[in-house]
Formats: sequence, C-alpha cells, structure tokens
Amino acid sequence: MTAQLNPRGDVAVLVPAAGAGVRLGPGRPKALRLLAGEPLLVHAVRRLAAAPSVHTIVVAAPAAEVAAVRELLAPVAPVTVVPGGAERQASVAAALAAVPAGPAIILVHDAARALTPPELVESVAAAVRGGRAAVIPVLPVVDTIKEVDAGEVVLGTVDRSALRAVQTPQGFRRSVLTAAHAAAGDSLTDDAGLVEKQGVAVSCVPGSEYALKITRPFDLALAEHLLAAAD
Ligand code: CTP
Ligand code: MG
Repeated sequence: MTAQLNPRGDVAVLVPAAGAGVRLGPGRPKALRLLAGEPLLVHAVRRLAAAPSVHTIVVAAPAAEVAAVRELLAPVAPVTVVPGGAERQASVAAALAAVPAGPAIILVHDAARALTPPELVESVAAAVRGGRAAVIPVLPVVDTIKEVDAGEVVLGTVDRSALRAVQTPQGFRRSVLTAAHAAAGDSLTDDAGLVEKQGVAVSCVPGSEYALKITRPFDLALAEHLLAAAD
C-alpha cells in the first residue's frame, strides 16, 4: 500500500542512494541490494514515510537507475527521484536542489541505514523544530580507541567518554543546510561537518542501534537477523 506523506508536515528528507556499495562486494548498487527480499532503499523509504512530520522525500539514485528507482518506489510512497553524483556530497546537493518551497526542516538520511525507525526521524526533526540549527543522532563509542602511527604502533589512548559515533538522519534548519552546501568546496565530509565549518553549533540526540549503516556483508546479515527478530 502506498503511504501518504503529510501535506502539513514541515520536514523534507534527502536520501542519498547513489553509491556503488563497493564494500558490500560485487553486485548491484547498494541501495538496490536485497534485504529480506526487498531493496535496502524500499526498507529505508517505507520507514521515512511512516514518520508523521515528513512532507517530502527526495531520493538521489544511481544515474543509470533513476527510472528503475521511480518504478520501485511508486508503490511505497510518493517520492521525487533525481540522479545522484560521483560523491555523496554531490548526491545530497542534487536532492537538496529538488526540494519544493515549504518544508523548514531538512533531514539527510543514508539509504544504507535501511532499518532506521520512524521515531528517530521524529526525534531529530523535533530537536530542529525546538530551535537547534543542526542535529545529529549519536551513540556512545563502546570499544577502546587507540591512535596509531603509520607503522601501527600505538601513540596513545583516546578518551572514549568524549567520543560519539554519528548516524543519520542528520537534521538542519533549511537555511543552514542550504548555506553550508552553497559554501562547500569539494570537501568530503558529512552534512553536519559542512555546517560545523560554517561555525554553526551541531547538537546531539540519542541514536538507535537500528540505524546501523549497512556497509559490509556482516552488516547485511545482522540486519536480516534484526528484521526476522522483529517479526
Ligand atoms: N551515496 C550517494 N552517492 C555517492 C556515494 C554514496 O548517494 N556518490 C550514498 C550511498 O548510496 C549511501 C550513503 O551515501 O546510502 C552512505 O554511503 P556508503 O555507505 O559509503 O555507501 P556506498 O558509497 O554505496 O558504499 P561503498 O563506499 O562501500 O561503495
Ligand atoms: Mg561510500
């Protein structure tokens, strides 16, 4: 069943989905690889569409797959699909350019974080709505982290209590993200990194284990288990 987006919602979500998925191994672009019989992108968009604040979803697809992705997503939710770029930042910029007038909050969400719950989308959006210019979901770092030199010899132990692992969706006041992208050179950083460079404060909210990024075959296997356990 096709989800309805909220015409009174104040959130547009950009979904960079144009990556190859090299680390997942040979096969189709990562967003189109199957998880429990459905492409990762379908899982991701279904969960975004279930978040009540979402007004618009713009997907940046692999350039050769734009028509296929439109067809794939038509039964899932009303989405705009644009061709992505060679780097993630270019894909986000292409999606940003396609957002209609209206939504005051923009979220940027990796298709690869296919199991991200709608509740996390809402909590990031709520923090922006509440006055934060930029918001990222984070988890504490559980492993001990060492800094090493080029020869893999330990230089020191980093204070883990001050570190956070960053997820998506990352949320922004629309004007803040637009300005950061306009000012961005060819730097390869995440969207919050672009905003940090503008001197804007970036705030954290609690992330979710389900927002894991599916990067390697192990992550795909883990996601299969999480889905099966949730049934
Ligand atoms: N992405 C994108 N355009 C690119 C590169 C990445 O839209 N040129 C998207 C991916 O589709 C993914 C998200 O950015 O949803 C995070 O990237 P990553 O997990 O690195 O995915 P891939 O680049 O596809 O994977 P890999 O780096 O292993 O090739
Ligand atoms: Mg990549």
